[in-house]
Amino acid sequence: MLEKQVDRAAQSSPGPASAAVDAPAAEALLKAEKCVKCHDAVKSKKGSSFKVTAAKYKAGPDAEAALIKRLTAGSDDHEGIATKDAKAVKNLAEWILAQ
Ligand code: HEC
Repeated sequence: MLEKQVDRAAQSSPGPASAAVDAPAAEALLKAEKCVKCHDAVKSKKGSSFKVTAAKYKAGPDAEAALIKRLTAGSDDHEGIATKDAKAVKNLAEWILAQ
């Protein structure tokens, strides 16, 4: 019984208990939402690379909030991200800003 609980705790915690960006979750979300069709972390494809996006947002004020807004509200180029999971979007924004 106790063993099972420990197992479950180990599975549900993604890596060390810290506020670090969950990179696998961010990358999985980009794949699930098909963002990778047009965006790559470092290579510019149809859309700019997340490295370029990170540099652009970090040059402005409130980088994370501005990027979250851009991700959720969408733009002339595409609609906002489909997920309504605010935590997942925040994680993705943090991951993009870390590129
Ligand atoms: C059909 C191609 C395509 C898809 C799919 C796509 N994008 Fe884009 N995206 C673009 C283009 C084109 C632009 C505008 C040019 C640019 O800034 O890269 C853009 C712009 C952006 C920007 C703004 C960059 C800036 O400088 O302000 C972000 C952030 C972004 N996309 C994230 C995403 C995310 C997250 C997804 C998945 C939910 C996604 N995109 C899916 C083509 C795409």
